[in-house]
Parts: sequence; structure tokens; C-alpha cells
Amino acid sequence: MGAKRVSGKKDKGFYVTTPIYYVNDVPHIGHAYTTIAADVLVRYKRLSGRSVLFTTGTDEHGKKIQRSAEERGMSPKTLADSVVAKFVDAWKLLDIRNDVFIRTTEERHTRVVQEIWARLKANGDIYPGAYEGWYCTPDESYWTEKELVDGKCPSCGREVEKIKEESYFFRLSRYQQPLLRHIEANDGFILPASRRNEVLSFVRDGLKDLSITRSGFEWGIKVPGDPGLVVYVWLDALLNYLTAAGFMGDTDTFDDFWPPDIQLVGKDILKFHAVYWPAFLMSAGLPLPKQIFAHGWWTIEGMKMSKSLGNVVSPESLVDAYGTDATRYFLMREVPFGLDGNFSDTAMQTRINSDLANDLGNLLSRATGMVARFANGVLPVAGAQDQSDRALQEKAAQLYTAYSTAMDNIEFHNALSAVWGFIGEANKYVDQTRPWQDAKAGNTERLNTRLYTTIEATRIVAVYLLPFMPDAARKILSAIAQDAKAEGLNLGQLSAWGGAVPSVRIALAQPLFAKKPDSAKSDPAKTRADLSRPSKKMQEAPPAQNTAQQKQAPGTMGIDEFKKTELKVGTILSAQRVEGSQKLIKIEVDIGEKRTIVAGIGRSYSPEELPGKRIVVVANLRPAELFGIQSQGMLLAAGDAEHLGLLTLDRDVPNGTRIK
Ligand code: MSP
Repeated sequence: MGAKRVSGKKDKGFYVTTPIYYVNDVPHIGHAYTTIAADVLVRYKRLSGRSVLFTTGTDEHGKKIQRSAEERGMSPKTLADSVVAKFVDAWKLLDIRNDVFIRTTEERHTRVVQEIWARLKANGDIYPGAYEGWYCTPDESYWTEKELVDGKCPSCGREVEKIKEESYFFRLSRYQQPLLRHIEANDGFILPASRRNEVLSFVRDGLKDLSITRSGFEWGIKVPGDPGLVVYVWLDALLNYLTAAGFMGDTDTFDDFWPPDIQLVGKDILKFHAVYWPAFLMSAGLPLPKQIFAHGWWTIEGMKMSKSLGNVVSPESLVDAYGTDATRYFLMREVPFGLDGNFSDTAMQTRINSDLANDLGNLLSRATGMVARFANGVLPVAGAQDQSDRALQEKAAQLYTAYSTAMDNIEFHNALSAVWGFIGEANKYVDQTRPWQDAKAGNTERLNTRLYTTIEATRIVAVYLLPFMPDAARKILSAIAQDAKAEGLNLGQLSAWGGAVPSVRIALAQPLFAKKPDSAKSDPAKTRADLSRPSKKMQEAPPAQNTAQQKQAPGTMGIDEFKKTELKVGTILSAQRVEGSQKLIKIEVDIGEKRTIVAGIGRSYSPEELPGKRIVVVANLRPAELFGIQSQGMLLAAGDAEHLGLLTLDRDVPNGTRIK
């Protein structure tokens, strides 16, 4: 696959890489994390008008893979082929748009490795010797006796093996000073800063020459001139970044994109990328990457993720339970990129319920619902602006700066938090300007401005979400009939105020993110496996007990009796008068599931002011039929028919939360 070009751009192409993943293991949340982050960054750069090359792939050679294949009774290549298919599928599922998928078993890569070998050798950096020391096969890394921790690998804590073999060495020691100078002179070369300091002290401590061959097994690239040996898998693997960019192949692409602008890696493989890799490149006379960014690790429900614990989270299970966009959103939002994070189903559900279904979902349903109701479904041209409209427009302009700065600094969580700040402002704008009152009073010009402003704010939100949640963002643009413009324009143009095209038809949008039920919280692992089925606990409420202590005084009841009433938090999605009744309003409400309620509040409220209100609903009333409509619950209100007040909440609690 060739890199996508944006014609007329003179900038150097922007090159982003992920590590290439070992094929002894199927894809998991850790692999997905780096790859999603790269994809988000790449989509942002493309949206900003840059020409981008995005590469990922698989690391298929070495002792570890050979051993894994032997254990499964298959050849390493057969194992690699089957696991590669799984990575390709996982990236499709997660909407990853890489340009190149590089496999280290490809012929083009062998040629690159042999060429670089020849360059290092010609530069006097390769010499023969013998290696004696420890080796961690799972990490494919060498350790000295002194470095071991309790006799185990200091990086992963697993068993190490003693090896003693003839090998070739790379003069890493020769690059200690040049490397130090480079890191010291370039603040942004290794990020975050804390990781840069670790690397600096590692390099200052002195660099020993590195064994770059292995013997005694076959599965690797043969050493030129010494076919009994294979190239050390990390040298082989790191060179993938050259092959994938077209080195010795597609020279135009290589000239356009080399060196990498950013290489994303996990913190565990930083030494290989920030020390060995630049030294190899210096020796080969090639420009160094501009930035190596080390991200943190995810634990699962507070535990280290491992096959032996059986808690490995796969991309498939996440997408099955939560969908692609919510998975991408969670991983980018929950934890600052660079720090460790903890995955839990509860945290995921909270994000979905409160950020996606509530904040974003409400904005979309209010924006589209108001156009549908007050403007016959046609987006009006905005009239004159007042202070409130101008204030929201100003916030949109500030969002551009906050968002782009965060994205340029690889602070995905900050970019999203800026977008959510703006969503909050847009929702507040609707609450405070109360467009339904203008509709009622016939203030058409003001109403038009409010409707346009709300749709415009929604459109701008969708534009900023394109890199993070490509599918949902496109669905929002399509729901507000603004998708035609999205292609071919850059972020600055797309996010400029006034971009929404008026006079288009808009219908009330369907919710994009369904609320996740509360019950799931009690059994998180089960949740991912099966979210759609309500738990048994939910279906069968325990019978109320009537013990001696609970014997009741007249006029009182026991707590168990009260608990029989299922009160739940909900958000009104839409409301309309029941034909033929002054008093009744038919309401659609989200209480973790959608319910229709016929409520006698029509003398105190107009249907227009109801959508978006957070209310309290009796959820376990037997359905009743009113004016031919089945009412599936009751909302709580106080006062007489003309002066009713709805019970609402003073804090944001997810829809469907049980009131206790
Ligand atoms: N093959 C080498 C990389 C060679 S790059 C020239 C390798 N592969 S790996 O499959 O073991 O790991 C790839 C990446 O997954 C690493 O960046 C690692 O940090 C990341 N993760 C593995 N488990 C992880 C978590 N639990 N959390 C976050 N990322 C983690 O290393």
C-alpha cells in the first residue's frame, strides 16, 4: 500500500510508527493501545493537511517465536501467518488505517537487514567475539549477572538462561558520547521527560558493546558471510522502520518520509528504541527519528495482565462489549498518554454513560430535536447574535487552540477533555437560552440563531472527534446533514465558526451510544463477555422479608417495602402533547433503557422545555394505558396541576442509576 499524498504540500511527509508485535501472542489491549494512539495522531495530522506514512506490523524471527511454534507443533512461518491474520483483523475492527503492514519475514526486509549489516561493518562497528552472560528469551534481551533481580529478568521478572556462544558485536560503546550529546541537545527526542531522564542516566553509566548475533537455532535472518549465525532479533526488528518506509525499495516514499517524526513504543522497550536504534542509525549514516514517545502500561482491574492470570483483554472482546469508537475513546481519554493506567469495566461504563451517552448524546438529541420540532426539520439561517451566541462562538475558537496544542504535544486526554468542556458549554447554552420559549413566543429570528448555534456547536464537536471516533463523528455529521463538507478540508477550515450549511433537512437523531446497565458493575468480567443480557439478579428481586424487627407501626413502612419501589434517574429525550388532552404529555425517557411515559404535567410544562431534563422515574409500575398510549412508568413531581415542579438531580448521575 502506498502512502497517501496531499497534493500541493511542500512539508516533509509525517512518518508515524508503532512497534512491530511478536507473533507468539494474539493481539491484546496493550498492542491495541499503541496502535489506536498512532491512528488517532495520524488522522489528526491528515486532518491538519499533512501527508502521512503510518506503519505497523509483526516481529516474526527469534528464539522466542521458534520456541512458541515448536510448542504448538508447527513451523514458525505457519504460526506467524496465523497470528498475522489476527492482527490484521484486529486493526480492521478498531478502524486502524495504517499505510503499511510490515512483516520481518518479507524478502524486502531481509535485503535491508543485510545492507545495514554491511554498512555497520564497513564503518568498523562490527567485530567477532564471544558472548557469555544471561538471556531473557521472552524479552529477547541480554543481561549481565549484576543486572538480574533475584536471578530473574529485571525487565519482565521471568526466568533467564545462561548462554555462552561465538558472536559478532556492535561497537555500541563508540556511540555513548554522540548519543548523549544528541539527547541533551534535543529535549523532545525522548518523551515524556521522566523517561528521557532514565535513558540519560542509563547512557551516562556507560554503554557496553552489544552482541548482535545468535547461534544454535535457524529462525532468523542469516548473517552475511557467516550463515551459521542469525542476526539478533532486535537489530532485525528495529530495521523494520527503514524497510516499511521504502528504504532500498520505494525511494520516493523514503525520501519523502525519512526520518520518522514520532515512534510510539511502550515503556518496556524504550532502551531498544532510544539507545540501540539511534546508535545503529548513526553507524549506518542515516538521520535519526525526531521523537520517541514511551507510553505506560495498562493493568486489568488492578492486576498485571498475563496469560497465567487469565485476564488478557482482547480487542475483540472490547469491541463486542463496547463498540469500536467507545473503546478508542476510553483508551485515549482515561489516562494521560505516557502514564500507566488501569482498565476496568466500571471505568469504561462510566465513560460511556456519562461522556458519550449523556454529554455528547444529549447535545446531539437536543440540537436535532429542536430543529425537528421548532423549524419543521429544516436548519434555519442564523439571525443576529446576542451575547450568549457570541460567547459560545468564542469558546469554539478557544477550543481550536486548546485541542491543537494538546494533540501536537501528544496529550490525547487533554484534547478530549477540551472537547468535553465545549460540549458542556453547548449544553449549558441550550439550558440558559431556552429556545423553546422563543418558539412559543414567536421570536423567530432569535429562535433561528439559537437553533443554528446549537447545530453549529454539534458540528464542530464532531469535527474534533474525527480522529478519535471516526465512525461516530461521521454519524453525527450525517445526522445534522453536514457530512458533504467534511472531505478534503483541513481542521482549521472545518472547525471555523459558521461552517454549518443551513436550509438542510434534519431529523431527531437516534442515540449513538447506548447506556450500559448498572448491574454490569457487579460482575465486570462477565460484562465484557455478555453485556446485553440482564443478570439474573436484575430479573428476580428478592422477596421482601417481614421479620420481627420490621413489624411496622401504623403509617410507617420497613425499608424493604420502600425498596420495592424502583426509582431511577432518567433523561427526557423527547416530549409531545397527547392529542385530545390538555394535561397529558407523552415523554420518551432514557432510564438506562428507553421508556414511554404519559405524564399529567401539561398544565405546568410545555413539551419544548422538557428534552434534556434529568428526572426521577418509578420504573417498576405495571404499565397502564392512557389515551391509547401505553405508559411504562411514572415521573415524580410535586405541586398541583398548574404549579408542578419535577424532581430533578443536582449532580450528574448516569441514567438508570437506582435511587436509594
Ligand atoms: N516485538 C517487540 C517490539 C519490536 S519494535 C521494533 C515487542 N513486541 S510485543 O508484542 O511484545 O509488544 C509490543 C508493545 O506492546 C510494546 O510497546 C509493549 O509496551 C506493549 N504492551 C504490551 N503489554 C502492554 C500493556 N499491558 N499495556 C500497554 N502496552 C503494553 O516488544
